[in-house]
Amino acid sequence: MRTKITVVGAGNVGATTAQRLAERDYADVVVVDIVEGLPQGKVLDINQSGPVVGYEPNLIGSNGYEESAGSEIVVITSGFPRQPGMSRDDLLAKNKEIVGNVSKEVAERSPDAIVIVVTNPLDAMCHVAYDELGFPRQRVIGMAGVLDSARFRTFLAWELGVSGRDVTGFVLGGHGDSMVPVVSYSNVAGVPVDQLISDERLQEIVQRTRDGGAEVVKLLQKGSAFYAPSAAVVEMIDSIVLDQKRVLPCAALCEGEYGFDGLFVGVPVRLGAQGIEEIVEIDLSETERQALSDSAGTVRELVQALATL
Ligand code: NAI
Ligand code: 2OP
Repeated sequence: MRTKITVVGAGNVGATTAQRLAERDYADVVVVDIVEGLPQGKVLDINQSGPVVGYEPNLIGSNGYEESAGSEIVVITSGFPRQPGMSRDDLLAKNKEIVGNVSKEVAERSPDAIVIVVTNPLDAMCHVAYDELGFPRQRVIGMAGVLDSARFRTFLAWELGVSGRDVTGFVLGGHGDSMVPVVSYSNVAGVPVDQLISDERLQEIVQRTRDGGAEVVKLLQKGSAFYAPSAAVVEMIDSIVLDQKRVLPCAALCEGEYGFDGLFVGVPVRLGAQGIEEIVEIDLSETERQALSDSAGTVRELVQALATL
């Protein structure tokens, strides 16, 4: 039996995630979107690559949730990016409604699923999904840290002229300007990056990482990043489907860990077949702990704003 995965939203992130999953060839994939023809057209196109790339063309596109029933993993990418003239609260309200409605459908059709939330503002949308789904915290996970860390690792690799695969780097905290690239845990093949790069240059790399999403948006002028985001989602899905138990930075509901209670924050988690199998607590310097606490504070403000909508 292949794993059944539903991707909600057939836009840039959703469709690219479906394509990457198809190429893994370990799952049957259902793509759901409200726009008629969009999920059907995208999956037809992806299915038709199967014989050439070498995978089973088992994707279904739908405007409803019947085909998604019994999914083991659901990825929520439905929602809007911030448009010109739209305030943060407008976006929060619009995506709260979308993620809330989608989560109700998911809870009804796929009550045992592990849900990965992608829609922004990420940490706040994790709260919306968690509240609507009624699932245990192990099965509601936000994707942001893997993406932000991939950006950090890329910039560090370019700086040192090494392969990004040999660069370890964790970005923790909320998925926003206050995210925390943790320099003390960043290394190249075990050598700490602060022994290889000057403080001043490291701070520039940290800042470029924080601005990573905005840098892509500014270049594209329309829409936001989706290649690296979908790669990040699929790295998380690999760890769940293949029970790899990778330790990856993900938004998880902290209940005491890192001193946060009842808040989704980007923290290292062990991801396996059960979803979040452990929130891994690492020692942080006083400065890093403070930065993480400040970042969690911005998430808390968004969650409080949600309650007023
Ligand atoms: P997109 O605009 O290309 O796609 C969004 C899709 O959602 C559209 O096809 C739309 O029709 C669909 N949709 C809207 N309402 C729906 C509903 N009720 N049910 C089903 N589908 C619905 O946007 P893109 O680039 O795919 O981004 C999606 C979301 O992911 C955005 O909120 C974006 O900000 C966020 N994002 C988050 C990242 C992260 O690190 N957490 C990284 C990249 C994007
Ligand atoms: C990103 O970081 C838009 O959140 C998205 O690229």
